[in-house]
Amino acid sequence: MRDASTRWHVFSDADAVAREAAERIVKAARHAIRARGLFRLVLAGGRTPVQAYRLLVDAGMDWSRWHIYYGDERCLPVDDAERNSAMAASAWLDHVPIPSAHVHPIPAEKGAEEAALEYASVVRQALPFDLVLLGMGEDGHTASLFPGHHHSDSQLVHAVHNAPKPPPDRVSLGRAALCNAQDVLIVVTGAGKQEAVSRWKAGHTLPVAEIAGRHGADILIDRAAEGAEKGS
Ligand code: 6PG
Repeated sequence: MRDASTRWHVFSDADAVAREAAERIVKAARHAIRARGLFRLVLAGGRTPVQAYRLLVDAGMDWSRWHIYYGDERCLPVDDAERNSAMAASAWLDHVPIPSAHVHPIPAEKGAEEAALEYASVVRQALPFDLVLLGMGEDGHTASLFPGHHHSDSQLVHAVHNAPKPPPDRVSLGRAALCNAQDVLIVVTGAGKQEAVSRWKAGHTLPVAEIAGRHGADILIDRAAEGAEKGS
């Protein structure tokens, strides 16, 4: 039974969003490990989640039970600092003993098509995810699912070209894969996201608005992104 409900949670600033996100990730991990012996987490790219990743370094979890996947990846060389996997590694994964066999980067350095094909079999074996963490771009994109780009729901992982957010070539989990999860947690901070947030709340069709897990989606947003500071 899918609960498509979207729950908005407003926080004073980006640090408060990061603290709440880290707490929710830890709580989801404890629940999944207790129930199934492992925790399958999909990481968000971009900068918003980095502070939450940093907070997880000191979470003191049984890291051997964690399995890490990525919602999307930029087609850049494997050691490029701008890769989503590089940002997660430097903020968090390099500092905790998650077995390397449990960390599944998207091989985007192989090119979008080949990487999408290869990662689809990794995702197929992992589903359902326990928690999918996502960000949102200023145009309402999430992962590398951009407005105006059409992808077949029959594919778990898409090769993306001509992305409006550089680099143009990317690999992204598709809507079906991102929704095949117990929970979805979306982190949105900063005034630059206000426009997309108000369009989302107004019911506009945005890629980010299409993603919900079996228990719906929780959106952690700060006042700057919510626009509460407008005129205040
Ligand atoms: C990426 C991400 C992308 C990101 C949003 C928000 O490759 O950048 O996958 O979807 O989550 O663009 O980015 P910020 O968190 O940096 O604002």
